Amino acid sequence: MTQFLEAEPYRIKVVEPLKMTTFEERQRSLQKAHFNVFNLPAEDVFVDLLTDSGTSAMSQYQWAGIMMGDESYAGSRNWYHLEATIQEITGYAYVLPTHQGRPAENILTMLHIKPGMAVLGNMFFDTTQAHIETKGGVPVTLVIDEGLNPESEYPFKGDVDLGKLEDYLKGAREKVGMIHVTVTCNNNGGQPVSMANLRAIRNIADRYGLPFFLDAARFAENAFFIQQREPGYAHKSILEIAREMFSYADGCTMSAKKDGLVNIGGFLALRDEGKFRLAQQYLILWEGFISYGGLAGRDLEALAIGLKEVLDENYLACRIRQVHYLGNQLLEAGVPALKPLGGHCVMLDMKRFLPHIPQERYPAEAFCAQLYLDSGTRAVGLGQLAFGSEDHTTGVVQYAPLELVRLAIPRRVYTDNHMRLVAQSVIRVYENRDQLRGMHLVWAPKVLRHFSAHLQPI
Ligand code: F0G
Repeated sequence: MTQFLEAEPYRIKVVEPLKMTTFEERQRSLQKAHFNVFNLPAEDVFVDLLTDSGTSAMSQYQWAGIMMGDESYAGSRNWYHLEATIQEITGYAYVLPTHQGRPAENILTMLHIKPGMAVLGNMFFDTTQAHIETKGGVPVTLVIDEGLNPESEYPFKGDVDLGKLEDYLKGAREKVGMIHVTVTCNNNGGQPVSMANLRAIRNIADRYGLPFFLDAARFAENAFFIQQREPGYAHKSILEIAREMFSYADGCTMSAKKDGLVNIGGFLALRDEGKFRLAQQYLILWEGFISYGGLAGRDLEALAIGLKEVLDENYLACRIRQVHYLGNQLLEAGVPALKPLGGHCVMLDMKRFLPHIPQERYPAEAFCAQLYLDSGTRAVGLGQLAFGSEDHTTGVVQYAPLELVRLAIPRRVYTDNHMRLVAQSVIRVYENRDQLRGMHLVWAPKVLRHFSAHLQPI
């Protein structure tokens, strides 16, 4: 089994200077951003933990690969390299490149959903859910109960509840289009799905004659957790584990901006040739020709290389160790972080962090604003502003079930010193939490309001 390394299996060759800001400068930036950290210029952020998506540092091999870009419209050599790499890792014969994860979701849902049909899974990322819904489909989240309990320390909190899956299918098989399972499960903090669960889902899918796909954005981190936690996998390589994970599904969507270790890219991979031929037509219509799918040749090359690098156990051990290094400092200080710590982020539970601020006063955003003021760290609120709603004429509030803040860690980008600075800052905000009063919503668009809303501290 991989031991957690003390040091990164790489050294730094190129550095990106960060702007140092004073408290007063951050106050001005935040005011200009209407107290919503999404509106901040990234230059004014010191440690940016908004997302782990598209924010990875590439290796010297990937940058060298960029110079080897073959920008031919059709049949670029980089495409053949990428196709072969994905075939080798996933075992799926048919690959379609896309510019990120969501176009792959769009095509997959086009292939499998007719109005009124359900898609069953653990939990769906926002864009996956939106693509299901815009096809008239119904996303049904069947994550195990432990997955929704912030205090549960169950090791595979991304697992699908097999009993609920079977019950749903017994009643309504004809109304189900597919099963789509996210590894790791982003919505509850990068929690892994066990191999036993994937195997059992395959079995159920076969019995009901249903296609089963993976959302593989963080497949390597999921494989690492299986190696660490699931009996029988300690001596298997990440590649072997990943291959077995993929072997149970009929294909996958992937946002390669995560475990592809690239800044842009994605793909859809399938076993079924008929579906592939149809998907190719959609790809040409929306993304680009079948051998580039919205990416430049150089991007295809960087991804082919990144998909191999991410399988390195020393890299993965170091990556997860850093996420846990941040999380453990917070837990030791009594900060309510979700346990067990996940693969790509630390989630903070604002219902316990700021219990005196009601959800309609947006505690997650109040925290994010204060964290930015304190240290220039950017986090993201995932609570009432993102998932709830308030009707000011009737006074009716639809409450978001959870009030969370996510600290997502980019891959190979920050040092432990950055993580220590972030931990100290979160702890400072926690110690002075009584001073926070929440936020008023000044202005918001009708859809996806959290991205651009204007707020004002109370
Ligand atoms: N699936 C998962 C599990 C994701 O986390 C994301 C993106 C997508 C699909 C969509 O991929 O952005 O390449 O189109 N997650 C990012 C995040 C944005 O911050 O968690 P995309």
